[in-house]
Amino acid sequence: MKTVMNLVFLGAPGAGKGTQATRVCDRYGIPHISTGDILRANIKAGTPLGVEAKTYIDKGLLVPDDVVIGLVEQRLGEEDCKNGYLLDGFPRTLEQAEALSKFSDITYAINIQVDSDMVIDRIAGRRMCKCGESYHISWYNSDKCQKCGSVLYQRDDDKEDTVKARLEVYEKQTAPLIDYYNSKGALRNVDGKKGMEEVFEDIAEILG
Ligand code: AP5
Repeated sequence: MKTVMNLVFLGAPGAGKGTQATRVCDRYGIPHISTGDILRANIKAGTPLGVEAKTYIDKGLLVPDDVVIGLVEQRLGEEDCKNGYLLDGFPRTLEQAEALSKFSDITYAINIQVDSDMVIDRIAGRRMCKCGESYHISWYNSDKCQKCGSVLYQRDDDKEDTVKARLEVYEKQTAPLIDYYNSKGALRNVDGKKGMEEVFEDIAEILG
């Protein structure tokens, strides 16, 4: 019987959660559920949820727990999550973690560890594509996506002041989840300062 793998990716903004989540989901055939991506898609579509979320995201603040918990609970109930999933950017508060524990078990919480000066550089140099690909100006010098050819852009919340606010919010509200998952025996730390391929290999070794 196939083992169900329910994963949570923890890490500061810019730690590399999205980058590694894409690779892990490709390798293990599980859906990549990024609450940030879901919220940004709602902003783009101008839904009531998107209009509300934008007021928080633009300031680097977290969207209220009840809004995000409802979104994730609904998504995890879908058919493609029956054999596992990867949550990227959720949970982000102890309240979200407690809520998640009531509707799903977690196999591993992978914590991607980086230094704060490193994440500022990574975020400042990040360029996104509407297809979901992400690049960094240090290794990619085109303004077009190599997968779909669309023009790359910088996320609104990747401007310097917003990044500082996001890092403060991470330290205060999300970092306590490291102890939370450690106490449950699910925490696995990964050195996110290494290159992308090495980080992926370290994660793959944990997942088996
Ligand atoms: P979200 O979209 O989740 O953003 P984040 O957590 O701040 O994370 P990022 O997407 O910025 O970084 P990442 O770790 O994925 O790094 P990446 O792989 O892109 O959330 C945005 C906002 O939405 C929040 O502020 C909040 O308002 C709201 N929100 C979302 N979820 C919420 C929730 N659960 N509750 C409440 N509110 C919520 O990498 C960054 C860059 O570095 C890229 O350019 C990449 O190419 C490069 N890079 C990656 N790895 C490496 C490496 N090993 N070496 C060199 N470069 C690397």
